[in-house]
Amino acid sequence: MTEQAPAPTDKPAPKGPPPRVFSGMQPSGTLHLGNYMGALKTWVDLVDESRRTGLDCIFCIVDQHAITVDYDVKELRAKVVDAAVCYLAAGIDPAQCTLFVQSHVPQHTELAWYFNTIMPMGELGRMTQFKEKSEQHRQSVSTGLFTYPLLMAADILLYRATIVPVGEDQVQHLEFSREVARKFNGRFTPKRARPTFPEPAPRLSATPRIMGLDGMHKMSKSRGNEIGLLEEDASIRKKLKGAFTDPQRMRRDDPGRPEICNIYTMHRAVSPPALVEEVQRSCTSASWGCGDCKEALGNNLSAHLTPIRLKAKELTAKPEQVHDTLADGARRCRAIAEETMREVRDRMGLVPAKG
Ligand code: AMP
Ligand code: TRP
Repeated sequence: MTEQAPAPTDKPAPKGPPPRVFSGMQPSGTLHLGNYMGALKTWVDLVDESRRTGLDCIFCIVDQHAITVDYDVKELRAKVVDAAVCYLAAGIDPAQCTLFVQSHVPQHTELAWYFNTIMPMGELGRMTQFKEKSEQHRQSVSTGLFTYPLLMAADILLYRATIVPVGEDQVQHLEFSREVARKFNGRFTPKRARPTFPEPAPRLSATPRIMGLDGMHKMSKSRGNEIGLLEEDASIRKKLKGAFTDPQRMRRDDPGRPEICNIYTMHRAVSPPALVEEVQRSCTSASWGCGDCKEALGNNLSAHLTPIRLKAKELTAKPEQVHDTLADGARRCRAIAEETMREVRDRMGLVPAKG
């Protein structure tokens, strides 16, 4: 017997329900490679893992978050469907997980209101995303933009999810969600009862922060420095040609620093491990120039994204199927959400309606 083997008297760990995964993205048009490499790819990996482990994966199109800044009413519906198409095309298999639209489950905003009453304003004012977005939308900073993290905490805690796959920029919001759970549990969970909410943790991909083509800011649609998830190969290759790399690498035979190069980061997200190693070696030894790395990346992005693009075209032609998937998802989520809310209302002392 090895030292690590359990003693014969040890009981197996108690088996609870499998952990739950929850994440969401705003329907802000088609996704970009930052969204994909930072978050969506991890969603797909978790769905694949769930086939073996029974993880319960729930993914949400957070339309109520999207309306916290100026938006075009006429475009919102189409954007919600476009977002669903992107997820499904990337491998979010509705037979294996749940996909729905936030506004189809009214308990999200109900729980967010209760959280409004327990969290102090000071903590919300410290959120980096609020500071950045209120800078960008200076003319009209809505109260909803300020209280955004409370709705995000409600999204996650409503399902008592513990695994939240997101990009690095959302880590602060996850810390805040844990704080909400702790506050609620501390104030409203009766002594010796199981905590109302477990504390959720972020699950980061190996590439949790993708820089934009400008090399200055993280990739984001609002900065126009992005590569779209569904962009055609030729357009991607053209954008890569002009993409920022290592500023110290002035001549082809200067050795590069892959650890600070966005092209290398993107290789890590989509290229086979052997090629990633080769890129690393060839860059540091200057046997490859930036153009070689970019060309190899263009090829791998094409191999990776072409099936997604084709699947998205197929799904766009069948919007009914997409709407059916979202309706199934909402039905399941409303049931889970109502169960949580019954406990929340009870623990907060609200009177249930008779009958
Ligand atoms: P957003 O488009 O800001 O709603 O982001 C949706 C998801 O993509 C979140 O989990 C973000 O953390 C992630 N994300 C957005 N931009 C990037 C980026 N440039 N690099 C890595 N992850 C990102
Ligand atoms: N705030 C996230 C973003 O901007 C989106 C989001 C809303 C989210 N609710 C969530 C992410 C719940 C994870 C879990 O990207």
